[in-house]
Amino acid sequence: MHTALLIVLATALPCTAQAPPRQAVEARNGMVVCVSPPAADVGVAILKRGGNAVDAAIAVALAEAVTYPAAGNVGGGGFMLVWPGAGKEPVVFDYREKAPAASTADMFASGTDPFSSKVAGVPGTVRGLSLAHKRFGKLPWKELVLPAVALAEDGFELNAPLAQSLNQILADKKTTNAEFRRVYGKNGGADRWKAGDRLVLADLGKTLRAVAEEGPDAFYTGKLAELVEAEMKTGGGLITKSDLAKYEAKERKPIHGTYRGFDVYAPPPPSSGGVALVEMLNILETFDLKKHERYSPQTVHLMAEAMRRAYLDRARHLGDQDFVQVPDHLTRKEYAKKLAAGIDPAKATKSESLAPDIAITDGGTNTTHFSVADRDGMCVANTYTLENAYGCRVVVRGAGYILNNEMTDFNPKPGVTTRTGLIGTKPNQVAPGKRMLSSMTPTIMAKDGKPVLITGSPGGRTIINTMLCHVVNFVDYGMAAQALVDAPRMHHQWFPDRIAHEDFAGFPDLSAKLKAMDHTVTKHRQGDGHTIVIDPKTGTFYGAADIRIDGKAAGY
Ligand code: DON
Repeated sequence: MHTALLIVLATALPCTAQAPPRQAVEARNGMVVCVSPPAADVGVAILKRGGNAVDAAIAVALAEAVTYPAAGNVGGGGFMLVWPGAGKEPVVFDYREKAPAASTADMFASGTDPFSSKVAGVPGTVRGLSLAHKRFGKLPWKELVLPAVALAEDGFELNAPLAQSLNQILADKKTTNAEFRRVYGKNGGADRWKAGDRLVLADLGKTLRAVAEEGPDAFYTGKLAELVEAEMKTGGGLITKSDLAKYEAKERKPIHGTYRGFDVYAPPPPSSGGVALVEMLNILETFDLKKHERYSPQTVHLMAEAMRRAYLDRARHLGDQDFVQVPDHLTRKEYAKKLAAGIDPAKATKSESLAPDIAITDGGTNTTHFSVADRDGMCVANTYTLENAYGCRVVVRGAGYILNNEMTDFNPKPGVTTRTGLIGTKPNQVAPGKRMLSSMTPTIMAKDGKPVLITGSPGGRTIINTMLCHVVNFVDYGMAAQALVDAPRMHHQWFPDRIAHEDFAGFPDLSAKLKAMDHTVTKHRQGDGHTIVIDPKTGTFYGAADIRIDGKAAGY
């Protein structure tokens, strides 16, 4: 891997505004990098016990359903990308939520409350993890669930970010569900949480114990399904026992692209991540990015131009592939060349000028990604979510888990696409049983048949661009694991027609130069991208937990 560059850039490039460069955690036998320290410990314990990367990923996902309630979940959904090992085809497990059978295309046309069970999709996580286990698991299912049961039943210590996040959500008047307040409030909501307090989740422990002992079906049938139906009756939601019983996770072929000799794998629709990432990389491959510095106006401009074009195609074409025919030219190199030819190297394109066919009228950290690698060459990139932090802020009474509000990822108003970023195009309109379009992009890159980068991130539509930044940082600018994760990121999503960027520390005139190229520029923060880099020569894992949040890289 570009060693000389790597050393120079690891020290020379800005990691964040103030912090000195940090070092990744090094290990040879296995690595788990995730947002929640107790869950990282669970994952490494599974690896040490002889579990493979998929076993560890399942245990981490279930542990985070307890220890990272903002996004870790059993009541939501996501995508798991598995690199099974040398010579084997990578696989995606799609466990995205589905629209309940009673859904209709215009159900959100006159607006909706995002914090009620009306916006919950049928949860996919338990079936998704179970499908991955059936295909690749080594240790018994029960052994992978029990660590989460213990964390829920015995409780676990809150760290400062989690205590603060819970206090914030409980202080919000929009958090109205009494069961949520009872379960997540300290002393029934009378007190504020502080770091070091213990959170016990008794009902969630019972639910997880049923899933451990009776298997994944327990979550979708019988008593637990009845509790969901009862919740829907109280809250006006649509999920029925039949929706739950029918829910299936799917094994899908990942989107595969190449970028300057590296292979790139990421999820296919219903995630837009793989298609958009590969489309952007194909566009950028036609330019010599390295000619300019990473934080030069030229590089940032070209990245933004690639982003705006891919996000337009996302709006125009992408939706659940079980319902919508997704054209296959989007990830082809010839198509990217045509798009690249339309980019002016010195001037921003107007987003509106790219889409005369679409009538135009006038992102955060609420998802979570983890990366796992084992000693036998198996790797997992998993991103899952409840959509908003704590989903729809409704706890299923008696079952103890938080429901997602993923239905808000459908295009809410058919035909209404706005300059502020609302999308109304057809492919992602609501239909019964359809999966809402996602931006989750768990990504694995390989070189000469060996995995070299395992990454992913939260942040809604910003996710795909966070991945673009990671890939460009790694391939074009040779950044080391921690530097590539901590480096400032940027985002353009077609509409709003502007570059949103993190603090370009050390490059004070960059914004002004971009404005001079006719870009509108604004500041924001992108999600935490817990990442593993693998040195293909030595097999050493470099685990980089993101500086933006208190995650943990645990290796051995
Ligand atoms: O699937 C998606 O793309 C979104 N539901 C992810 C939501 C998200 O990342 C929110 N966090 N900031």
